[in-house]
Amino acid sequence: MDKFVIHGGSRLCGRLTVKGSKNAALPIMAAALLTDQPVVLKDVAQLADISNMQGLLRSLGCSADVVPPKTSGLDAALDPPGQVMRLHVEDESLSHAVYDIVRTMRASICVLGPMLARRGIARVSMPGGCAIGDRPVDLHLRGLGALGAEITLDGGDILARVPRGGGAGGGRLKGARIFLGGPFGSTVLGTANVMSAATLAEGQTIIESAACEPEIVDLARMLNSMGARITGAGSPRIVIEGVESLSGTTHRVMPDRIEAGTYMCAAAITNGDITLDNCPLDAMLAVVDRLEAVGVLVTEIHDKGGVTDPLRTSARITCSRNLKPVEVTTQPHPGFPTDVQAQLMALLCLADGNSVVTERIYPERFLHVAELARMGARILRQGPTAVISGTRRLVGAPVMASDLRASACLVLAGLAAEGTTTVNRVYHLDRGYEKMETRLRTLGAEIERVRDRQVAPTPAEAIS
Ligand code: EPZ
Repeated sequence: MDKFVIHGGSRLCGRLTVKGSKNAALPIMAAALLTDQPVVLKDVAQLADISNMQGLLRSLGCSADVVPPKTSGLDAALDPPGQVMRLHVEDESLSHAVYDIVRTMRASICVLGPMLARRGIARVSMPGGCAIGDRPVDLHLRGLGALGAEITLDGGDILARVPRGGGAGGGRLKGARIFLGGPFGSTVLGTANVMSAATLAEGQTIIESAACEPEIVDLARMLNSMGARITGAGSPRIVIEGVESLSGTTHRVMPDRIEAGTYMCAAAITNGDITLDNCPLDAMLAVVDRLEAVGVLVTEIHDKGGVTDPLRTSARITCSRNLKPVEVTTQPHPGFPTDVQAQLMALLCLADGNSVVTERIYPERFLHVAELARMGARILRQGPTAVISGTRRLVGAPVMASDLRASACLVLAGLAAEGTTTVNRVYHLDRGYEKMETRLRTLGAEIERVRDRQVAPTPAEAIS
């Protein structure tokens, strides 16, 4: 298991291109199961979770290959764009997403809806819980059941089938009105599953209390380019008019707003000055709001041409020396994203006063608190709320990564800490951040990856 060794104290300065969104790409890749035509995706980040999804799709009869980059011409010269991936279903008889694959990545659940709708049958291992919570899928099953699927649990697997379904000419799912709200708001991948399945259902589907995340909008945009008829994506009510079949498409994955938020916090915690290109500022207003309340300056840089895509703009991040304490509560989009909670907490450890962080999506998502305390942070956790009493400095120490975003939090703390921080088990990071240490080094960080001879983690440790 690799670890990062970080010598803190360097200001991050320079320019970085935000990569394609992991949380958009995963359900978008799964949606390739809705057609027997080729699907080409651009700006796919090089991540462990993306590789896991490639392996899962291959096990379901769908080729998933990275298209080699152009070696000459302008494309080769520019800041390397994300990977181009070509997906093509060649065998629809393999419809079992097995436990050994699903347990390494919970997002595997998003193949359920597409496979059920297209093939009439799907068997997907129940995803386990993970470090941030027990991660139920009851809302997914409620939604697919409402579309007419017969769903049973069989030996740890979800077995879903369309009555009189299966293959060409078989039964189809039936459009329905579905309420998809749960005790913690809506469900992102549940919305992706139900919306994807409804594209091939007979008649109209209305999803009430749908997730409003930008990644859902990106998925809907891609599905509509395949011939789906979806309106309302990004709002709590999505309407889908079912169609008989979908074609292939080419789609560029939206930039990763969580990665962008992470690097904004990295710039702030090191009192740095970085510019992010391909930045989805329009999807990050809650993050920018909290960072500006802390004293971070986020300045949008407009192209000379003046016309910019608000989801692919440039932003310069600088920070005042005196960080102010804030209150932040994580909410479903457009609220403050739970996936940036840990990274902001690292920054708040150095604020001048007491901050309050409340986690409304995953009340247990505080595994980073104990590790930050090892570095001198003063944090009191009471249930879903943590009070951070800012301190003048953090001190480097060996710390343990537990999940993807907690790992990022510890790296940020190490960048600002005095002395050396060792972040163990960085395989968590590799799931959601492309070449993080290399990219931080280009910004001036003193960070290196050290191969650790310890045995690789058990899949249960890797889940999130
Ligand atoms: C997505 O997970 C993201 N993952 C998560 O990012 C993110 O934290 C989460 O949405 C919330 O924004 C991907 O997109 C691959 P949910 P998802 O279903 O869809 C409860 C990261 O760090 N719930 O929206 O699995 C659930 O317990 C990852 O990149 C039910 O009760 O999350 C949670 O409290 C971590 N029943 C809340 O809803 C269900 O059937 C939100 O979960 C489903 C969810």
